[in-house]
Amino acid sequence: MTDGHQVLVSASILNADFSRLDRVVHKMERAGADRLHLDVMDGHFVDNITFGPDVVAAFRRLTDMPLDVHLMISQPARYMDRFIEADPQTITFHVETDEGDARKDEAIAAIHAAGKGAGLAVSPDTPVSAVDPWLSELDIIMIMSVYPGWGGQGFIPETAPKIAEARARLAAAGRGGLVHVDGGVNSKTADVVGAQGIDVCIVGSALFTRGRDASDEVDLVKARALEAYAAAGVR
Ligand code: DX5
Ligand code: ZN
Repeated sequence: MTDGHQVLVSASILNADFSRLDRVVHKMERAGADRLHLDVMDGHFVDNITFGPDVVAAFRRLTDMPLDVHLMISQPARYMDRFIEADPQTITFHVETDEGDARKDEAIAAIHAAGKGAGLAVSPDTPVSAVDPWLSELDIIMIMSVYPGWGGQGFIPETAPKIAEARARLAAAGRGGLVHVDGGVNSKTADVVGAQGIDVCIVGSALFTRGRDASDEVDLVKARALEAYAAAGVR
């Protein structure tokens, strides 16, 4: 019995074949992924560079799936209007960026003014309490279960309890926000995050494993997370 709790899968396309984005998107649609997770990296906040608002807009043209933008950039407020214009459903940036609190306020206000969901991500060494100043405005708390920058890394088990912490905070804030977990999440680690009450599992490289059907992985992640949720009696 799971009291109606749902676990969604947001597919991260970071490790996909960028030369065929249309095929990648349709593969994720067929696999039953609920959302697409788009990792934006600037080579400064993290030691990797991916893509910008134009590619987010390209995904918008390719699919009606909800798009979750994950900004791993040092100046999210500076570029926020351009990402909003690309029309994703949600935009999440890191609480660790060195843009001041006032700029973070502005960024979240701009996201909401455009009718979109706003989130803050916390890296493995950052306590969940770092998002407290913005709690009443958050639609997403994203728990990083790897150090941001690359797909295909191993899940850091010490980050799992932060999911329950984030869940309790969002419940207390009463805004109906969801907890996302990102990094090393797959059918082998889904039970760990499920037992903490995760809402959205971001799954990347596990969906692009040669010779493996992505829909099997999506189904397994959901089933194992829900089983663990029920077994743990999460409230
Ligand atoms: C890492 C990214 C993740 C990553 C997830 O910095 O934020 O979204 O692509 O991929 P896997 O599931 O392979 O860890
Ligand atoms: Zn991500």
